[in-house]
Amino acid sequence: MKITVVGAGAVGASCAEYIAIKNFASEVVLLDIKEGYAEGKAMDLMQCASLNGFDTKITGTTNDYSKTSGSNICVITSGIPRKPGMTREELIGINAGIVKTVSENLVKYSPDTVLIVVSNPMDTMTYLAHKVTGLPKHRIIGMGGALDSARFKYRLAEALGAPISDVDGMVIGGHSDVGMVPLISHATRNSIKVSEFISQERLEQVKEDTKVGGATLTKLLGTSAWYAPGAAVSGLVQAIACNQKKIFPCSALLDGEYGLKGLCIGVPVVLGSNGIESIVEIELSEAEKSHLHTSAEGVQKTNGLLNL
Ligand code: LAC
Repeated sequence: MKITVVGAGAVGASCAEYIAIKNFASEVVLLDIKEGYAEGKAMDLMQCASLNGFDTKITGTTNDYSKTSGSNICVITSGIPRKPGMTREELIGINAGIVKTVSENLVKYSPDTVLIVVSNPMDTMTYLAHKVTGLPKHRIIGMGGALDSARFKYRLAEALGAPISDVDGMVIGGHSDVGMVPLISHATRNSIKVSEFISQERLEQVKEDTKVGGATLTKLLGTSAWYAPGAAVSGLVQAIACNQKKIFPCSALLDGEYGLKGLCIGVPVVLGSNGIESIVEIELSEAEKSHLHTSAEGVQKTNGLLNL
């Protein structure tokens, strides 16, 4: 199992690290445009192997896509992250050109790959990857919902005073501060609806804190987060590499599901060796349905800024 991660910055490197620590892949290739950077990160990570007990071989390359040849899964983290006060949508001008070039190069050397897009604005970058590569729709996946759901579970556990392992919940919709749809109606503590434990008012607060999860961290860190994004990507990569058939909310190209068409947005999907094995349509409350549709309008608006 060969996995390429493009972009050896904080998100890409933490993604490579979590993949290696989980020890399911034979090979991870890190690629970056900055001379020697991916090689350096790869060497540093490899020097963790005996300490952390993994056998995954991590190598680095400066922009040589031939080294990524035959990758089963490719992850795109390249582009600029947001600075405090910026929205993810504001990154489109620079990141669209980068994601276009990177996706074309990856698919040239790995035509059978499953592509995972992390660069922001993620739903629009995932749509762009579809447009420029023409890969079958089940083989392009945007990572946002898995991260947003992890943040939702963190906030739920905090509000419930419960361990995170007791909590389950999912965020669908666009990966943006206004577009995220935390599914309160489906969130549970050990299969009991969370509304049995905390007030609607407290749940609204959880929802709002979840939606600005990335912005809160960007303000604290001066740049966007990397540990949870890296861990979330590694979860998707493992589900595909190990054909786990696990459900994650991911940005998928929709063709009528949830009443939406011709855009990529976060919905629950089953992930396995084919990438998106299926899209799962679940019952939403009227408020969630309407929020998802408003979220889709926002994504469409950002897609409209692409020069396609
Ligand atoms: C975040 C970035 C990765 O939400 O979109 O932290």
